[in-house]
Amino acid sequence: MNDTFLKVCRGEKVSYTPIWIMRQAGRYLPEYQEIRKRVDFLTLCKDPDLASEVTIQPVEILGVDAAILFSDILIPLEPMGIDLEFSEKIGPIINNPVRDKASFDNLLSYNPDDELDFVKKTIKNLKSNLKVPLIGFSGAPFTLATYLIEGGTSKNFINTKKLMYGDRVLFEEIMAKLTIMIHDYLLMQIKAGVDAIQIFDTWLGIVCPEYILKYILKYVNKLIDNIKSNSNVPIIYFPFNCSYILKQISGVSADVIGIDWRIYIDNASELMNNQKTIQGNLDPCVLFATRDIIKQNVEMVLNRGVACKGHIFNLGHGILPETPVDNVKYFVDIVHKLSQKGD
Ligand code: CP3
Repeated sequence: MNDTFLKVCRGEKVSYTPIWIMRQAGRYLPEYQEIRKRVDFLTLCKDPDLASEVTIQPVEILGVDAAILFSDILIPLEPMGIDLEFSEKIGPIINNPVRDKASFDNLLSYNPDDELDFVKKTIKNLKSNLKVPLIGFSGAPFTLATYLIEGGTSKNFINTKKLMYGDRVLFEEIMAKLTIMIHDYLLMQIKAGVDAIQIFDTWLGIVCPEYILKYILKYVNKLIDNIKSNSNVPIIYFPFNCSYILKQISGVSADVIGIDWRIYIDNASELMNNQKTIQGNLDPCVLFATRDIIKQNVEMVLNRGVACKGHIFNLGHGILPETPVDNVKYFVDIVHKLSQKGD
């Protein structure tokens, strides 16, 4: 197996910079669209053969150094009694959002081995076919809480913040319940064979530092510490849009921190005392530019990556559906070429 990605997660030296791309399996690939013509998104996530096929697509087409399980961060909410749908136009919709004690009390606890058996099957399937490491994942407690409370994607997150400021007891009850669910779900993925995990905290950056520190990071810490006491797979934590609080985030015991494009990665690393491998951080929109501009930006990020304890190349957020595939192939190749160390 090509273990360059895993070595960098652990802070070991390697001969080139490994790369994978957030949302690397998805709509920008014609091969993905072909399959989506036949099945809807949730069906695709729940079919181990099809989910394996789309997981492998970017590995074969692009030559990335890691695969990420094809699923969605909202899938593990369904067995809690959440009525989830994906609308082509709006994105995810939760028809029974949780905004009061009564609906919180209705949330179910479940065993992911039984209820999310299809995820286990997909992972086992992939492990016998992949030549690169497989990344499992989950949403972080706060990011999942926003979907649970808002009922979908949101602009101002008013319902979430109403609870956070107005009924902190219930807010923390939701966070605590999600933390347990996510822990069990990630351990199931690890037992099934994933080689690393990424925890997506896409919406952390909507919160002020005081509340992040007091009421949110403690659940991230609990989650990661509990996983670490049961397994030694590397953990990547991705707190999107959070450069303003990286110093505090450095206390989280993840091995790798994902960084978006709003900060230089060497500055981000320094804010975290150069103790962690950094993942990132090209603006996904650079991939719409010419090859020259892509190359220049890749070089800039690689040069700054040298100062980090370790560097995994990625975009600063998910790849966009309109991205030209040829540019993505060029991007992966140029990261490999420019970072190759001569003997
Ligand atoms: O990275 C990968 O290739 C693995 C698969 C993956 C998906 N979603 C597939 C997907 C992963 C890791 C996710 C994570 C996810 N899902 C996040 C966190 C990452 C981030 O982007 O910040 C979030 C917030 C979601 C929730 C979600 N899922 C939204 C808001 C949407 C609609 C917007 C969109 O991008 O389409 C989805 C749908 C979704 N998840 C698609 C895919 C491939 C598109 C579905 C389709 O085929 O139409």
